[in-house]
Amino acid sequence: MAKIVGGICTSHIPAIGNAIANDLFEDPYWKPFFDGYPPVRAWLDKVKPDVAIVVYNDHGLNFFLDKMPTFAIGAAKEYKNDDEGWGIPTIDPFKGDPELSWHLINSLHDEEFDLCSCQEMLVDHGFTVPMSLLWPERGEDQIKTVPFCVNTVQHPVASPRRCLAIGEALGRAIESYPEDCKVVILGTGGLSHQLDGERAGFINKEFDLECMEKIVSDPYHYQNMSIHELVKLAGAQGSEFILWLIMRAAMGKTPQVIHQNYHIPISNTGAGLLCLDTVS
Ligand code: DHB
Ligand code: FE
Repeated sequence: MAKIVGGICTSHIPAIGNAIANDLFEDPYWKPFFDGYPPVRAWLDKVKPDVAIVVYNDHGLNFFLDKMPTFAIGAAKEYKNDDEGWGIPTIDPFKGDPELSWHLINSLHDEEFDLCSCQEMLVDHGFTVPMSLLWPERGEDQIKTVPFCVNTVQHPVASPRRCLAIGEALGRAIESYPEDCKVVILGTGGLSHQLDGERAGFINKEFDLECMEKIVSDPYHYQNMSIHELVKLAGAQGSEFILWLIMRAAMGKTPQVIHQNYHIPISNTGAGLLCLDTVS
């Protein structure tokens, strides 16, 4: 049977893609951010997951404002990357796992969640930047992926309660997959940031630090929060925190924190990283 071995939450800022491409790991601005990742990669080397389910949001590459599914899931053999406008170098395609994807689609459908299934899907920085941070080398035996895309771009955006519920169902769906495989779940994006409008540049460190703690010990703390309250506290794009909630709800009981890092600012964002091991 499939087993959830852990979860990783990480910000997905496009400037990180440029910093990676330009080898800025030791640069004083970037070092405190990049230094968060080696312990997480060491954990991945030890646990060796077979597949990563990447809960992320598309920023106008695969979906645009004319067609915006609340939840969409990839069911392709591979996922190509393209640049949705930030000028980040395009990277090699990612390997899919269509059998697992269809199992998840069917299981979630049986639990009355209506997802948009995508047999072709381009992935943007919300997916590729975390993958590059966590698996910088990808060869023939690279990890398989399932993109799980959540609208955070155009309202109405799913509430924290809805995201916790679909996350729980995702956890059940993974654990009912009959193949023996180790699954890691990524929740990308966040923490607080607002890129436009009157509050452009808004960061809320106090809220971010509470998120870093509560996502581990009490994710249901956020279940009665409306998306508008979340935007008020985290900034318009800080609503990406709902992706962390999906990941965490899929993991179930309180996980063990392997490593964490929080650094502000990276670009316009409070950058958070958490590596969580499933306690078996
Ligand atoms: C930034 C952060 C994001 O999450 C994003 O999608 C785009 C830009 C930023 O901080 O610059
Ligand atoms: Fe984003």
